[in-house]
Amino acid sequence: MECIYHEQRSPQIRYKSWTKRELSKYTGSDNGPILIAVKGKVYDVSLGRGFYGTGCAYNVFAGRDASRLLATQSFDDGMTEAELDAPIDSLQDLTDEDLESLDAYVGLFTVKYQCVGDLIED
Ligand code: HEM
Repeated sequence: MECIYHEQRSPQIRYKSWTKRELSKYTGSDNGPILIAVKGKVYDVSLGRGFYGTGCAYNVFAGRDASRLLATQSFDDGMTEAELDAPIDSLQDLTDEDLESLDAYVGLFTVKYQCVGDLIED
């Protein structure tokens, strides 16, 4: 898939509560919607397919709670079963600097993307 900017919303995504496992289906593969959770809220970032789509720079955040990675400005090897089974990350050990960095992303997501619900435990 080319990393171009698609002006594409996802009318099929209704506002609801999401578990990490449900969220994990929305990585944008097969050109489907892309969801990302940040600080307890779930955003439809399909408009940012050029960032988060398959093969794109920030694909590692797609379908996940990306809070810790964004806060710490880091990437990892991708979603794991252990991550899906674990409780929602409390982020309690993060530094003030990490939390400020995270809040900047929350600001961006709030302005740019549609919030489609809350992240909840299974
Ligand atoms: C060499 C380091 C990096 C470069 C050169 C870079 C570059 C960029 C650029 C050019 C944009 C687009 C800004 C715009 O639209 O105005 C962007 C957005 C973004 N970057 Fe980075 N970045 C880097 C590192 C990181 C890291 C470490 C993270 C997080 C772990 C990150 C997360 C993001 C996110 C979430 C966006 C917003 C995408 C969106 O609009 O949905 N970046 N970055």
